Amino acid sequence: MPGQESLKTPSLGAVVSVRGSVVDVRFDEQLPPIYSVLRAGDKAQIVIEVLAQLDARHVRGIALTPTQGLARGMAVQDTGGPLEVPVGKEVLSRMFDVFGNVIDRGAVLSDFELRSVHQAPPPLARRSTKSEIFETGIKAIDVLMPLERGGKAGLFGGAGVGKTVLLTEMIHNMVGQHEGVSIFCGIGERCREGEELYHQMKEAGVLPNMVMVFGQMNEPPGARFRVGHAALTMAEYFRDDEHRDVLLLIDNIFRFIQAGMEVSGLMGQMPSRLGYQPTMGTELSRLEERIANTDTGAITSIQAVYVPADDFTDPAAVHTFSHLSASIVLSRKRASEGLFPAIDPLQSNSKMATPGIVGARHYGLAQEIRRTFAQYAQLKDIISMLGLEQLSPEDRNVVARARRLERFLTQPFFTTKQFTGLDGKLVSLEDALDGCERILRDEFKDYPESALYMIGAINEAKGKSKPGPSTAEPKSRAKADLTSAAKATPEPHPIPGAKPQPTLEHAGDAHES
Ligand SMILES: Nc1ncnc2c1ncn2[C@@H]1O[C@H](COP(=O)(O)OP(=O)(O)OP(=O)(O)O)[C@@H](O)[C@H]1O
Ligand SMILES: [Mg+2]
Repeated sequence: MPGQESLKTPSLGAVVSVRGSVVDVRFDEQLPPIYSVLRAGDKAQIVIEVLAQLDARHVRGIALTPTQGLARGMAVQDTGGPLEVPVGKEVLSRMFDVFGNVIDRGAVLSDFELRSVHQAPPPLARRSTKSEIFETGIKAIDVLMPLERGGKAGLFGGAGVGKTVLLTEMIHNMVGQHEGVSIFCGIGERCREGEELYHQMKEAGVLPNMVMVFGQMNEPPGARFRVGHAALTMAEYFRDDEHRDVLLLIDNIFRFIQAGMEVSGLMGQMPSRLGYQPTMGTELSRLEERIANTDTGAITSIQAVYVPADDFTDPAAVHTFSHLSASIVLSRKRASEGLFPAIDPLQSNSKMATPGIVGARHYGLAQEIRRTFAQYAQLKDIISMLGLEQLSPEDRNVVARARRLERFLTQPFFTTKQFTGLDGKLVSLEDALDGCERILRDEFKDYPESALYMIGAINEAKGKSKPGPSTAEPKSRAKADLTSAAKATPEPHPIPGAKPQPTLEHAGDAHES
């Protein structure tokens, strides 16, 4: 075990109190500095990180392991160093916990260097300032909120709107093409998902350039609080020592904030707004600031952000927003309509979406798509009160375009094939832009809306069904097996031709808001 090697300084202390994960320890000789790792228990299995020096004799720390069996008066050993994780080429293709122990049942590491998980962010002078687009192959993202190479993107959403699915799809699409190293960090989410991802990556053959680090929901708050730092330390090694580009994927950064909140109360701090810790801003920026580009390599990061109760004004969400260069907001309403990925284009944004970076054509198109969606959102109220017939022909056209765009921006995913029965599609930016442009030019006015639903490039709509409301051919039954959400709502219709196509008039009536 790497952590045990540093058991050298003899400074011994004794437990004064244990409150859940927070442990107070008295040291009579030398007080361990902040971030020191202490060990207790008969096999030194209980690990505590010092977070505060209470007075000249006492420190308060947070346990990174369960504290069962820890009692007042028990001896505590100061290891004389901070929490360290292994870095180096050997960590590739392996799976770790917060202590840097391998958890994939493989052989223990032999050739590695240990590095403290607490590092300073790169100084401003070393940061790189070039802006480059990072293509994901997902239409809605590449067109409307392009990601930045070396940037930080957030996938925001409440429970069960598709954050993990979208993140996994991005891993699937990008890890293969990405020449650098990918690091996946699971914080406080389901253990099952970690296990599944590991096997998916193994099957896809991308594991040799990947590292996984997990501190999942079954682990104590201390472990969830530090696992992000552990993953970042490995990422920094590849960026700074090997000069490689790193893709850092985090599911879920909210759980990091939540772990901080869990310990903060026990540490005796007064809660701030909504019970969050007063130090949330500092804790988050200490982690986020380390995710940076330098002239030698870039860390591109994609982070899922759970939004409690779908409230985007929640302090945790607001703080996270401020660190990101692109925010992708997933909406429950879209998910319930079966419009996956459930990205809300009007709430999402990217600082890369400027004409200087994406070019005039792409920028103009993205603006026009947003305008169409915004007009549609305004017209929805009128439609639900008066019906589509009351709209002017002009407005009806806007609605038709917006609904076709909405459907065209859905996409079947490789990672959801088991439950949608649809083959995944990777769409180039050029194809995605082309499709949107042609829809905006009303080229697909006579096609049923469902012809554009869950396709890849726009030409597939032509193969899928011909213009005219009733000429669509029924497709195989397998495709009917979409998500239950998609089935529950009358439209968008996953099976072209199985029911009469939703004409614009029906569609307007059916629309509830
Ligand atoms: N692109 C998609 N295509 C089809 N179904 C999807 C898609 N994205 C999400 N779903 C459906 O939504 C469900 C929940 O997705 P997911 O687990 O990604 O949510 P989540 O936001 O990560 O939730 P949690 O906050 O609980 O972690 C999936 O099991 C699937 O049924
Ligand atoms: Mg999830």
